[in-house]
Amino acid sequence: MRSPPWSHRLAPARFFAVALLLLALAAGAAAAAITGDGYGRGRRLYMRNKVLEMFYHAYDNYMTYAFPHDELKPLTKSFTDSLSELGNLNLEHLPNDYNGSALTLVESLSSLVVLGNLTEFERGVLWLSENLTFDVDARINLFECNIRLLGGLISGHILAKEYSSHLKDRLYQDQLLHLAENLGSRFLPAFETPTGLPYAWINLKHGVMENETTETSTSGCGSLILEMGALSRLTGDSRYEAAALRALRKLWSMRSSLNLVGTTLDVLTGKWIEYSSGIGAGVDSFYEYLIKAYVLFGSEEYWDMFHSAYLAVQKYFRHGPWYHEADMRTGEATHWQLTSLQAFWPGLQVCGIPYMDGLSPYCRMLIMHCLFTPVIMPRHFWEMLLLQIYHIVNFTMYGKGLVCCLKDIFWTLGCCILQKSIILYVQSLLSLHFIFIKQLKILGT
Ligand SMILES: *[C@@H]1O[C@H](CO)[C@@H](O)[C@H](O)[C@H]1NC(C)=O
Ligand SMILES: *[C@@H]1O[C@H](CO)[C@@H](O)[C@H](O)[C@H]1NC(C)=O
Ligand SMILES: *[C@@H]1O[C@H](CO)[C@@H](O)[C@H](O)[C@H]1NC(C)=O
Ligand SMILES: *[C@@H]1O[C@H](CO)[C@@H](O)[C@H](O)[C@H]1NC(C)=O
Ligand SMILES: *[C@@H]1O[C@H](CO)[C@@H](O)[C@H](O)[C@H]1NC(C)=O
Repeated sequence: MRSPPWSHRLAPARFFAVALLLLALAAGAAAAAITGDGYGRGRRLYMRNKVLEMFYHAYDNYMTYAFPHDELKPLTKSFTDSLSELGNLNLEHLPNDYNGSALTLVESLSSLVVLGNLTEFERGVLWLSENLTFDVDARINLFECNIRLLGGLISGHILAKEYSSHLKDRLYQDQLLHLAENLGSRFLPAFETPTGLPYAWINLKHGVMENETTETSTSGCGSLILEMGALSRLTGDSRYEAAALRALRKLWSMRSSLNLVGTTLDVLTGKWIEYSSGIGAGVDSFYEYLIKAYVLFGSEEYWDMFHSAYLAVQKYFRHGPWYHEADMRTGEATHWQLTSLQAFWPGLQVCGIPYMDGLSPYCRMLIMHCLFTPVIMPRHFWEMLLLQIYHIVNFTMYGKGLVCCLKDIFWTLGCCILQKSIILYVQSLLSLHFIFIKQLKILGT
């Protein structure tokens, strides 16, 4: 059943009223866009240039003052080798002899391509392939290193392949993929636990350190499948995907009878430590990776996990427009604060909506089209509306019933409106865009 929890609650009359209201709102927004207000051409150009200016301000200063260290400290124009500090709130076990992994450069590769700067992209790729090594005595957070470094290398590789004809002299020979594979193989010892749940911390050179903490978070175990899965598909070495999937399945098996998970757990015993959880810190990307894994790999298993987890969140954490924390065992509210990391949730809902029940294939396609276009252009909007009208006529002629079509329109327009909240998580959307559009080709689906 792929019905969002609120879909069948709308009584027909109320449903029509809402649909009409949305139509009116959307038509108004589109008119504003056409006449130059709102997201009209002038404003879009202004914002485009502002984004370029901001990107190059950050990138150029990083390259000048911090590269090849990990990150720029902008006030002092110095650097920090932060890979071993990420997620390390008490700054424990910091390495003495680690000079950075050019982390910001790796993370900027995909942005350089999106912004059309292939020359700089190529320069970065060649530097990394000649100079980056992971044979360093540094204890790093598996989750952070996965999403930032491994993810950056893999998306860089996919883009380099995609644009290989624009790159000079065929100098790109999968070097980023080789780096990604080297890094991924250093992750594997973290998974060697009785439960298959990975340690949160690993030393890149020496593996799991003596007396390493066995406590980790739900995000730490449940946000690995995209990068490690892609690495397996790209290299043909199934170990990465298998390790991440085993951890995810184990984590999912630890859910309560309410389909809720906790926030922290022990990787040796597979027992929860913190039973209270929400959709913010420590858990957030677990939900995000479930739906993205479904989009990327197409396996129903990810959909089923996502759908059950999603419904449980809506049922137990949601209170009006707010999401609080609750005890996974009882569903009773524990903490009532709103936290910044929860901001990704509307974006996740938009990603999930195209897969909910009751949408016709054409509508799914339209929503995907609309979702994976960074800003809704007026042209897209009108195209969509025309297609909708065409399909209403077609459906009516074929006796499919008007309600079904209106429901589709309702969802499409709802998505457009919800999409504005995605601006909160542009990075996530962009990565999703590339994962979705580019990797589908690589995976041959
Ligand atoms: C890091 O830089 C220092 C100072 O330049 C150097 O002595 C050390 O060998 C470098 N460490 C590594 C692992 O390259
Ligand atoms: C690419 O980036 C480099 C470094 O910031 C800059 O010098 C160059 O002008 C950029 N090229 C384009 C086409 O934007
Ligand atoms: C690798 O680093 C060295 C030292 O910084 C530099 O001279 C060299 O040009 C780099 N390699 C590439 C391909 O950029
Ligand atoms: C690990 O813990 C044991 C027992 O507490 C202690 O004797 C040993 O020194 C610790 N090892 C390290 C490397 O901290
Ligand atoms: C029109 O509707 C029929 C019945 O649902 C469907 O089979 C057909 O593909 C539709 N035509 C187009 C062009 O979408």
